[in-house]
Amino acid sequence: MSVQIDHNLEEIRRFRPSPEFAAQAVASLALYDAAKADRLGFWAAQAKELLHWHRPFTRTLDWTNPPFAKWFDDGELNVAYNCLDRHVEAGNGNRIALHWEGEPGDSRDYSYAELTAEVKKAANLLTSLGVSAGDRVAIYLPMIPEAVISMLAVARIGAVHSVVFGGFSAESLRTRIDDASASIVITADGGYRKGKVFPLKTTVDTALADGESTVRNVLVVKRGGNEVEWTEGRDLWWRDELAAVDAEHVAKGFPAEHPLFILYTSGTTGKPKGILHTSGGYLTQTAFTHKNVFDLHPEKDVFWCTADIGWITGHSYVVYGPLANGATQVLFEGTPDSPHPGRWWEIIEKYKVSIFYTAPTAIRSFMKLGRQIPQEFNLRSLRLLGSVGEPINPEAWIWYRHVIGGGSIPVVDTWWQTETGAIMISALPGITDLKPGSAQTPVPGIEIEVLDDNGAPVSEGGGLLVVSEPWPSMLRGIWGDPERFTETYWEKFGDRYFAGDGARIDEDGDIWLLGRVDDVMNVSGHRLSTAEIESSLVAHPLTAEAAVVGASDETTGQAVVAFVILKASQEDAVSPEEASVLLRAHVARQIGAIARPREVFIVNELPKTRSGKIMRRLLRDLAEGREIGDTTTLSDASVMQVISDKVR
Ligand code: WT7
Repeated sequence: MSVQIDHNLEEIRRFRPSPEFAAQAVASLALYDAAKADRLGFWAAQAKELLHWHRPFTRTLDWTNPPFAKWFDDGELNVAYNCLDRHVEAGNGNRIALHWEGEPGDSRDYSYAELTAEVKKAANLLTSLGVSAGDRVAIYLPMIPEAVISMLAVARIGAVHSVVFGGFSAESLRTRIDDASASIVITADGGYRKGKVFPLKTTVDTALADGESTVRNVLVVKRGGNEVEWTEGRDLWWRDELAAVDAEHVAKGFPAEHPLFILYTSGTTGKPKGILHTSGGYLTQTAFTHKNVFDLHPEKDVFWCTADIGWITGHSYVVYGPLANGATQVLFEGTPDSPHPGRWWEIIEKYKVSIFYTAPTAIRSFMKLGRQIPQEFNLRSLRLLGSVGEPINPEAWIWYRHVIGGGSIPVVDTWWQTETGAIMISALPGITDLKPGSAQTPVPGIEIEVLDDNGAPVSEGGGLLVVSEPWPSMLRGIWGDPERFTETYWEKFGDRYFAGDGARIDEDGDIWLLGRVDDVMNVSGHRLSTAEIESSLVAHPLTAEAAVVGASDETTGQAVVAFVILKASQEDAVSPEEASVLLRAHVARQIGAIARPREVFIVNELPKTRSGKIMRRLLRDLAEGREIGDTTTLSDASVMQVISDKVR
């Protein structure tokens, strides 16, 4: 595994917290001291302070059977009660939980009392449909309040949600439904995107069309108003059903290690992994990081995380962290550039957003459009900016701070993963001197190391990022596949967690992330597997062989670039240009639009070693327009010349 060190390392700018910000900061240096003195005691104190326990825990961590951790395991809590009822009981029922903004410009506010009432009804509805604790419910919805309501209703009755991003195809949805044996799907007729309605219910119908499935009922929220087909007995309108159930629901406690959700993410093989998270530890760390990394003052801040609930960022920083902390936030259905390129800034102005959390890819695309667009809006309510999903290049960091943040507010770059459940590495605003381009410091209570391939600490240059102690919001496994769990994350470094990222620690102890070291790509902050796209490509009748690489891209970080050999029998049937168009569309249809290759090159050969392994490194050189690297291990050294003549 080789790790590339990029130009970020020459970055030397530093930004001190302003005295005004520091004076009111939620976080403090004392957090680091407390965690250092007694790590487990620190997490236990956070769990007690931040959450309501139906039954207090007495044990903090059981790590007697690594890598299977148990946190707070003799305690009981109800995750939804923690996100809802207790805020109402504390007298904050009238506080706005969600300022929801629809894509066409419609909007709706939910107070904590209103959101609690909706979730209670939805919990009763799910129970009436036979869902009980431990059962899996698939959620396939646009960014509408019902998405949050569904997740919390599932959690409230101790069932397990599996949210599938609305941009995923019928086939991807079906794979996820089957893998988790979901009994209910919650969807909408359609959602809005760039001024048009896109169908969701139809995709669910397609997903469930073939063969027996475990799904008994499909609950349909009316949103797009588009026509839908109806399977009597199976399909139910969300609103009609909710009107018929009891409004009262008492939340009962579930064990801290009770499963909360499964979320699928791409790995190095073609099959997505169902990452499993549980209740008490997950909620502790999402609440802790949301409070301290975002300097949350719940009585006055307006928080906006732009992630879709279909990703982990949406789970942890749209739903669980902010609601556990009683925050007021914005939930937005649309895209940044529709109907005009200032849509996000308009929303910040409208709701006086004070804390804003988004991805570098979005920031870079705004940079391209120019500062005059955000400058048309009043963004002075902002007091803290966050970034997540991939390394943020210093230029984008500086632009973000100056153009969006007005030049003086903190920017926190937060490193974490679907697997880690919550933020692991980030500056603490008001405390840390900020360094653009570096994610900087493990949050209190988290132990990070950078090791070489043999497990020795790396003091200079790049190495592999490892979490050396278990943490509360860590994944508890891969759904149905304990072996893959152990193999993927825990075999390389004993009982330490291998994250799959390259990293370097500088002389101040700050951590710089250097990208994935495996065959996982990062496109616009979304994780995609080269193997998954390759197997989609070879499933097409035109394709004989395919190789996929993540090539660096100015806006999206990486872009999917495919090299395909056509079947000899097909070569005369289509032109290379036609084949390329067909294959790009095929991948988008099979997996989802996010996986659509930026380019598909039709070639006659692929560069292989003598043992037949495809040398993706060389293809990446080609895709990025670089000089081709060392070809001495190729079985046929002339191949690269032939391919490069085709491509260039
Ligand atoms: C991968 C995890 C966690 C939410 C979004 C992505 C990359 C994430 C950063 C960052 C450098 C980052 C890593 C990681 N990544 N945040 N601040 N700096 N790289 O979640 O889909 O599970 O992807 O995203 O490569 O392993 P995910």
